[in-house]
Amino acid sequence: MDLRREALLGLFLFSFCLSVSCNLVFDVQHKFKGRERSLNALRSHDLRRHGRLLSVIDLELGGNGHPAETGLYFAKIGLGTPPVDFHVQVDTGSDILWVNCMGCSNCPKESDIDVELQLYDPKRSSTAGVVTCDEPFCSAMYKSVTEGCRPDVLCEYKVIYGDGSATSGYFVKDHVQLQGVVGKHKTTATNGSIIFGCGAKQSGELGTSSEALDGILGFGQANSSMISQLAASGKVKKIFAHCLDNVNGGGIFAIGDMVAPRVKTTPVVPDQAHYNVVLIGVKVGSTALDLPLGLFEFSYRRDAIIDSGTTLAYLPEDIFQPLVKKILVAQPDLKLHTVDKDFTCFHYDESVDEAFPSVTFDFEESLNLTIYPHEYLFQIRDDIWCVGWQSSAGNSKNGKEIFLFGDLVLQNRLVYYNLENQTIGWTDFNCSKGIKLKDEKSGKVHTVGAHRLASAAPIALIGSLLPWLLPFTLLLIQ
Ligand SMILES: *[C@@H]1O[C@H](CO)[C@@H](O)[C@H](O)[C@H]1NC(C)=O
Ligand SMILES: *[C@@H]1O[C@H](CO)[C@@H](O)[C@H](O)[C@H]1NC(C)=O
Ligand SMILES: *[C@@H]1O[C@H](CO)[C@@H](O)[C@H](O)[C@H]1NC(C)=O
Ligand SMILES: *[C@@H]1O[C@H](CO)[C@@H](O)[C@H](O)[C@H]1NC(C)=O
Ligand SMILES: *[C@@H]1O[C@H](CO)[C@@H](O)[C@H](O)[C@H]1NC(C)=O
Repeated sequence: MDLRREALLGLFLFSFCLSVSCNLVFDVQHKFKGRERSLNALRSHDLRRHGRLLSVIDLELGGNGHPAETGLYFAKIGLGTPPVDFHVQVDTGSDILWVNCMGCSNCPKESDIDVELQLYDPKRSSTAGVVTCDEPFCSAMYKSVTEGCRPDVLCEYKVIYGDGSATSGYFVKDHVQLQGVVGKHKTTATNGSIIFGCGAKQSGELGTSSEALDGILGFGQANSSMISQLAASGKVKKIFAHCLDNVNGGGIFAIGDMVAPRVKTTPVVPDQAHYNVVLIGVKVGSTALDLPLGLFEFSYRRDAIIDSGTTLAYLPEDIFQPLVKKILVAQPDLKLHTVDKDFTCFHYDESVDEAFPSVTFDFEESLNLTIYPHEYLFQIRDDIWCVGWQSSAGNSKNGKEIFLFGDLVLQNRLVYYNLENQTIGWTDFNCSKGIKLKDEKSGKVHTVGAHRLASAAPIALIGSLLPWLLPFTLLLIQ
C-alpha cells in the first residue's frame, strides 16, 4: 500500500525533473535524471530503497523548559564527513535546520549550557556541497527561481523568529548523522543527505544569548525541514514524538511510527505554516470559561499552534484576562507583584496543586489537555511563584491574536505528530519511561528512552533573574 504511494511520488518527481534544470537535490530524484523509467523499475527501486530505511531515529535531548534556567530543549546531531557534533534547539515552529558556520559574523562564542560550541566548516567535510539558486530546493523555497539567479549563485536563506532574532546565510548539502534504533535502548550511527542553512550572520538573541547553541533544528512540516527531506528520500516516515522532561531535563525525541503508548489525536488544520489544532473550549477547574465568539461564528473555534521552540504559552487577550483572573480568585489573599514587566508573581509556600485549579483545553475530536498548577506556575525562588500564561496582545495573525502552546504546556507529556495522517495527539506521560516504535524494515518494535545531555547549571533563583527574553521561535518571515 505504501509502496504504491511512493512509486507515485517517484513519478511525480520524475516529470518535475523533466521540466526544470535537472541539478537535483534528493537521492530519489537524482537516480532518474534524464532517464526513462517504467513503473516496474520504479517499484523495484522503491523496494531497494525500503531496504535502506533509517526507520526509527533516537535524537539525544538536553535542556529544560524552566523559564529561569535553560528555557529550551536541544538535540545533538552529527554533520559532515567525518561527522562533527552540533547541539541545536528543537523547534516544531520552524522549517529549516541551520547551524553557525565558519567565518560567521556575530555568532556566539560561549554558552552557559555545558556544550562545546562548533562552527560548521564545509571545507573540512568531504561530503559537503553548495546549493545554487537554480536548484529545485531553492526555487521551491522562494516559490520561483529568484531574480538575477545564475548557475553559480548560492541559495541564500534568512529566518526571523518571533522574538525578533534573525539568522541568515546560505544553504549547503551534506550528510547528517543520526542514531538509528536497532534494539532496546540500542542505537547505531546512521546517515542521510540533507540541505541545511550555513549561518553567516546572527542577530538578536541568536548572537548574544547566554543560552547559546549551534543552531536550530526546525521540525515543521514544510518540505525544507530535516524530517521532510529524510522522508522524501524514503529514509523515515513523517511521524515523530517528544517527551520534554522538565523534571530531570532532556527527555525523548524520536522519529518513527510510535505503537505504544497509544495516544488520542486531533486533526492538524490543513494548509497552515505551523502545527495548528482547533481549540473549542477552555475550563478552569470544572467551570467553562465564557469565550468570545467570532462575529459570524456559531461556536468557539480557534487555531492553537504547537511549538516546542517557545518556552511559555501565549493566549489571546480575551482569554488570557478571564483565565488568569479565575485562577487567582482561588486565593484572594495573595499579594501580587510584577517581575520583569511581564510576569505576575506572588509569595506562596504550600502546595500550589492544592491551592489553584487546573486548566483544561478542549480540542476537536474530544482530545483535551489538562495543565496542572505546578506546570503553569513556575518558581523563581523557593517560595515565589509566577504565572506562566502570557498574553499574546500585539502578536496577531489575520487580525486574530495568536494562540501559542510552548514548552509550558507540552513538557512532561508525550506529544505525537503523525504527519502522514495529519494528526497530533498527546497523553500524560512520565518522560523517564520508554516509548515503543516500530521498525519499518524488520517489523520489530523497539523501545526508545530518555536522554539527558549536559544542561545549564541552574542559576541562583534570587530576585528577578528571568532571562530578559525567552525563546519564542515561532517562524515569522523567511
Ligand atoms: C554514511 O553512510 C555511508 C553508507 O552507509 C557510509 O559509507 C559513510 O561512512 C557514512 N558517513 C558517515 C559520516 O557516517
Ligand atoms: C512538497 O513536496 C511534495 C512531494 O515531494 C510536493 O508534492 C509538494 O508540492 C511540495 N510542496 C511545496 C510547497 O513545494
Ligand atoms: C479529558 O478527556 C478524557 C477522555 O476523553 C475524559 O475522560 C476527561 O474527563 C476529560 N477531562 C476533562 C477535564 O475534561
Ligand atoms: C493513518 O490512518 C489510517 C486510518 O485510521 C490507519 O489505517 C493508518 O495506519 C494510519 N497511518 C499511519 C502512518 O499512522
Ligand atoms: C517516573 O518514572 C521514574 C522511573 O520509572 C520514577 O523514578 C519516577 O518517580 C516517576 N516520576 C513520577 C512523577 O511518577
